[in-house]
Amino acid sequence: MGHSSHNTCAVALAISCLIVAASAGSFYDEMDITFGGERAKISNGGQDLSLSLDQYSGSGFQSKHEYLFGRFDMQLKLVPGNSAGTVTTFYLSSQGAGHDEIDFEFLGNTTGSPYTIHTNVYSQGKGDKEQQFHLWFDPTAAFHTYTIVWNAQRIIFLIDNIPVRVFNNHEAAGVPFPKSQPMRVYASLWNADDWATQGGRVKTDWKNAPFTAYYRKFNANADKVGPNSRSTSSVNDNQAWRTQGVDAAGRNRIRWVQNKHMIYNYCNDRTRFTNGLPAECKRSRFL
Ligand SMILES: *[C@@H]1O[C@H](CO)[C@@H](O)[C@H](O)[C@H]1NC(C)=O
Repeated sequence: MGHSSHNTCAVALAISCLIVAASAGSFYDEMDITFGGERAKISNGGQDLSLSLDQYSGSGFQSKHEYLFGRFDMQLKLVPGNSAGTVTTFYLSSQGAGHDEIDFEFLGNTTGSPYTIHTNVYSQGKGDKEQQFHLWFDPTAAFHTYTIVWNAQRIIFLIDNIPVRVFNNHEAAGVPFPKSQPMRVYASLWNADDWATQGGRVKTDWKNAPFTAYYRKFNANADKVGPNSRSTSSVNDNQAWRTQGVDAAGRNRIRWVQNKHMIYNYCNDRTRFTNGLPAECKRSRFL
């Protein structure tokens, strides 16, 4: 299936694919600012985007296109210094009741304490599949690449191309998997000091406002849905995401991340799931 749509794109629609490819990555072409007004700024000819947060509002943007499966890359440089109480996000979500969602959330911290990377997957409105990590680098010092691969078999979260989490499709075991609701890309910076940092104990220090996070190099290798019909957009038209899994080297990296850097895994939380762990937790070694 993936094969034939790829060929269609490569042969019959070669010209439109090239046009799409040329525009991929410009925030002007790809994104709409959704809240925060002037706090969201696109600059450098569409290559850079910054979001800021002050006492009055955060800010955010969403993709103009909707997608059904793809690989989504974004580079982020997070709020430096005392970012306690702030949450920066990069995620996919469908709309309406029973929605699907695939989340990267970056929970700020006091100066010198580590950010928490929060991941979650919602299928048909139900989440409760959190995994959290600390990072092996300072995410405020430079840009790093955060990637969501979403195909029919699995969802893979990657950081600088290192897989940190895989959520496999276990529909056969009755676990809903996001596969039929188109999703947009969303990003935001907002105040969540009621829960984000050290369980909500550390509040946002507004003396440091405005807080700013930076985004660049958005790339979607993905199947678009909607008025412009199904097509792929990408810088290099790489289709590897359609069947992407985690090979032996990737499994080693994921084990390293999960052993050294994971701080929470819902699959290990027996006090929370008193009636037994979710079905997928028993079925995959790499949750
Ligand atoms: C903040 O730092 C504390 C102490 O190192 C750590 O336990 C926590 O996971 C960090 N992240 C957040 C979001 O609180």
